[in-house]
Amino acid sequence: MKAIILAGGEGLRLRPLTCNIPKPMVPIVNKPFLEHMLDNLKRHHIDEVILAICYLPDCIQRHFGDCGDLGMSLTYAFEEMPLGTGGAVKNAEQFLDDTFVVFNGDIFTDLDLTDMIRFHRYHKAKATIALTPVEDPTAYGVVETDSQGRVRCFIEKPSRETVTTNLINAGTYILEPEVLDLIPPGVHHMLERGLFPDLVERGIPFFGYRSNAYWIDIGVPEDYLKLHHDILMGKAIARFPGKSIADDIWLEDNCNIHPSAKIVGPVVIGQGCTVEQGARISGPAVLGAKCTVGQGTIIDEAILWQNVKLGKDATVRNSVIGNNSVVGDSTWVIDGSIISDDTAIGSSNRLEHGIRIWPGSTIEDNAISF
Ligand code: GDD
Ligand code: MG
Repeated sequence: MKAIILAGGEGLRLRPLTCNIPKPMVPIVNKPFLEHMLDNLKRHHIDEVILAICYLPDCIQRHFGDCGDLGMSLTYAFEEMPLGTGGAVKNAEQFLDDTFVVFNGDIFTDLDLTDMIRFHRYHKAKATIALTPVEDPTAYGVVETDSQGRVRCFIEKPSRETVTTNLINAGTYILEPEVLDLIPPGVHHMLERGLFPDLVERGIPFFGYRSNAYWIDIGVPEDYLKLHHDILMGKAIARFPGKSIADDIWLEDNCNIHPSAKIVGPVVIGQGCTVEQGARISGPAVLGAKCTVGQGTIIDEAILWQNVKLGKDATVRNSVIGNNSVVGDSTWVIDGSIISDDTAIGSSNRLEHGIRIWPGSTIEDNAISF
């Protein structure tokens, strides 16, 4: 069975992490998100994948090429202008000749796809949509089904008053090629506001497959951090680079860790990192390749991308720092702060309350003070 991954959105809610790379390429424990998705597809014996790309497409194509080394075949369906979730699938129609699966390109899940395919066939459905329960359904597509699992109603991002169930569209669909006839070609179309309500209205067999499997959409920084937390705490299963050197500590090659540094797992440290005297790293935390943690600096539940330099006596807690950024001595980056790539933050600053720092920014010493 072929799969199409919707990987063309701009990832606006994840900015500034998605200013320089598209959302499917953000690192999750030192490996692009999309690689985790492809790992998962291989586990379900899907090895022909179409990537529907639009925003920063080169970044994806350069990294994956034809994907021969993963033992999969990758085809790209490029949109000049964003065509929406439905328009993107329609744009790939030439590659789809049999039952196929569609994935939102920002969902991490261990959904039992094989069982979902069985369910789709058993019900002779023309479309089946995975459903997952969430606490606040208003940020998602809410799906009502009858006792047989047939979809009765699909409402995208409803207001709180109109919500009648906590089951939402989990962003995985199995579709028969003929439903593509209902999507107009070459125009912007959303599956969630167009095709799905249309299937209900026309009485076409459209089913919801309910699952309690691990599920998260990484589309906002809090959930990007949460996925790291869940993987490192063993709540979500993923493979990532690094060798286990002690309980809950994984290290890649060529690292230089000072004997007085204290590391309390779960912590993953990428290739060529340096951790200086008296530094302390408490997990769940991830350091990308070539990071330096200065003397006496504390990292606590944080994610550093590649080549991040932290000065002396700094603190980074529950935050993300992008590639090639520098944090000065005694500076605090805490409480959900999101620092993008190529930033230079001087010493003795305090960044907190989910502050977002754009790529290439410079903050002088003592500019945002205690
Ligand atoms: N190729 C392409 N072109 N992909 C797109 C486009 C486009 O124009 N627009 C969005 N996408 C991709 C995004 O990159 C993402 O992988 C996926 O489609 C879903 O878009 P989001 O922007 O992340 O949507 P959402 O999270 O607000 O809502 C969707 O996902 C929820 C589950 O997390 C909807 O499908 C909801 O119904 C659903 O509950
Ligand atoms: Mg999303």
